Amino acid sequence: MVVLASGTGTLLEALLAGSPASALAVTAVIVDRPCRAEEIAAAAGVRVHRVAPADHPDRDAWNRALAETVAGERPDLVVTAGFMRILSSEFVARFRGRIVNSHPSLLPAFPGAHGVRDALDYGVRVTGCTVHLVDDGVDTGPILAQEAVAVLPDDDDATLHERIKTVERRLLVDVVAAVAARGVVIDGRKAVIPSE
Ligand code: GRF
Repeated sequence: MVVLASGTGTLLEALLAGSPASALAVTAVIVDRPCRAEEIAAAAGVRVHRVAPADHPDRDAWNRALAETVAGERPDLVVTAGFMRILSSEFVARFRGRIVNSHPSLLPAFPGAHGVRDALDYGVRVTGCTVHLVDDGVDTGPILAQEAVAVLPDDDDATLHERIKTVERRLLVDVVAAVAARGVVIDGRKAVIPSE
């Protein structure tokens, strides 16, 4: 699998640690900026590509470069793990059904870049995380797995996000292993991983 990341890279770390038990190894990591995820990948001896928008004349050129870089790795699966950019519809079409994203809310509630803060601001008592296939929308693709996390009275964005990420790391690794082993059947909005 190829992992796309932009941030602290703890989901990537979990995927790297989990991949020996899975049929899918992390073969390359692609980042869009200098970030801790890039350092983690390099330290793990995994190929790293930095495809930064600033190095391309416009958004289309960056989109094409990103797609070409991913395609060059010939991945079975593309995992966006804290990748803070929206994938173009051409990218999604090229790798359709093979892009998995992890999002820190119970979708379809609180999509977008601030899923944790938006849930807190709304005042929900329960939020969580979602692993889903990527389609053309923002966090709208068929859901593979979800898990709930309680919001505590004293939570702020950081404490709640950390608790969600603890669950998110395990869920993402489990889902990727299951998809690697058994594939996904897509039926309209439903994405089903056949049972063992
Ligand atoms: C995760 O909560 C992910 O869902 C969100 O950003 C966070 C990434 O964390 N989009 P990390 O960079 O893997 O630590």
